[in-house]
Amino acid sequence: MGQIEITDVSYSYPESQSNALSNMNLEIDEGEFVLVLGASGSGKSTLARLIGGLIPDFYGGTISGKLKVSERSSMLFQDPEKQLVMNRVEREIALPLENRGVGEKEMIRRVSEALSFMNLNEIKDRDVTTLSGGQKQKVALGSTVVGGQRIIVLDEPISQLDPVNADEILEIVNRLNRDHGYTVILVEQRVDKCFHLADRVIYMESGSITYNGSKNDFIDEKNSDFLPEVVRLSYELPDAQFLNIKDGRAYLRKNNDKNIDENIDKEINTKINITMKSQSKTAHLNTSVYRSTDKSVSLSHVTFSYEKDLSYSIKLT
Ligand SMILES: Nc1ncnc2c1ncn2[C@@H]1O[C@H](COP(=O)(O)OP(=O)(O)OP(=O)(O)O)[C@@H](O)[C@H]1O
Ligand SMILES: [Mg+2]
Repeated sequence: MGQIEITDVSYSYPESQSNALSNMNLEIDEGEFVLVLGASGSGKSTLARLIGGLIPDFYGGTISGKLKVSERSSMLFQDPEKQLVMNRVEREIALPLENRGVGEKEMIRRVSEALSFMNLNEIKDRDVTTLSGGQKQKVALGSTVVGGQRIIVLDEPISQLDPVNADEILEIVNRLNRDHGYTVILVEQRVDKCFHLADRVIYMESGSITYNGSKNDFIDEKNSDFLPEVVRLSYELPDAQFLNIKDGRAYLRKNNDKNIDENIDKEINTKINITMKSQSKTAHLNTSVYRSTDKSVSLSHVTFSYEKDLSYSIKLT
């Protein structure tokens, strides 16, 4: 039996003629990391709100079917401003515990644990309104998890953050899942940042789940053109789970003996024809590019010139 069980659920928002969720069936086990993908309007946030307990209680509307969530969950949204209510960081983190009437000693211990876990000790006395977007989102996440609910539902939590803060939030979410057994349901558009963290991928279209399975099969079965190339390549290579250049290089070095490079050469050895625009000049490059084990880059028969300026030309044969 899953920790979350959705059986034949259909839902429509108040005064809406159409279903935002249609005959949905989904089971999620304790400790799973589920990534929810899909186009805009496909129902990802609605599913998150359903699991997070906001639908139907907060949104109203019409619901049918059966939903079972074995314990309370907590939710984190795109915009931390909408979740922060207190003026000091430490008070904000303590708020869910205060609301539940947790005793003072226990509260101090749990707030202090949460501040350390989130690396927020340095800013614990700061006024929340003076924090950066990334810091605010960390405080919102801290306040979300301090209550001890072990299911977290995150609806595009990094969409307003710069890459460094986005990585930090996802790393915290990953640790909660990996080291502390939290169940994570993550709705996210920035797939390159989180695809590798998921145990399972769900893809939604028009209020229904049209894919529910592993990452590798998702790439094989679904038209995953919207996935960044680095994500696709990572999963197309045998046994590969890297998503960045550094890990990819380490993988290539490690697998040198296994003749893996032959496969990769085949993948990358495609004829390219690039037009580059820079400083109002257009440049044309026509060549074959491939990667080999002993050289980082090989160029052969390359001719290059700026469109109208032959004084800047390169010819390599
Ligand atoms: N509060 C609301 N009231 C009425 N209709 C809503 C509400 N929120 C969403 N909808 C409708 O429900 C459907 C699903 O929307 P939802 O926000 O769940 O999609 P989404 O996949 O999260 O999209 P996005 O990627 O843009 O966030 C859409 O048709 C949308 O217009
Ligand atoms: Mg949404």
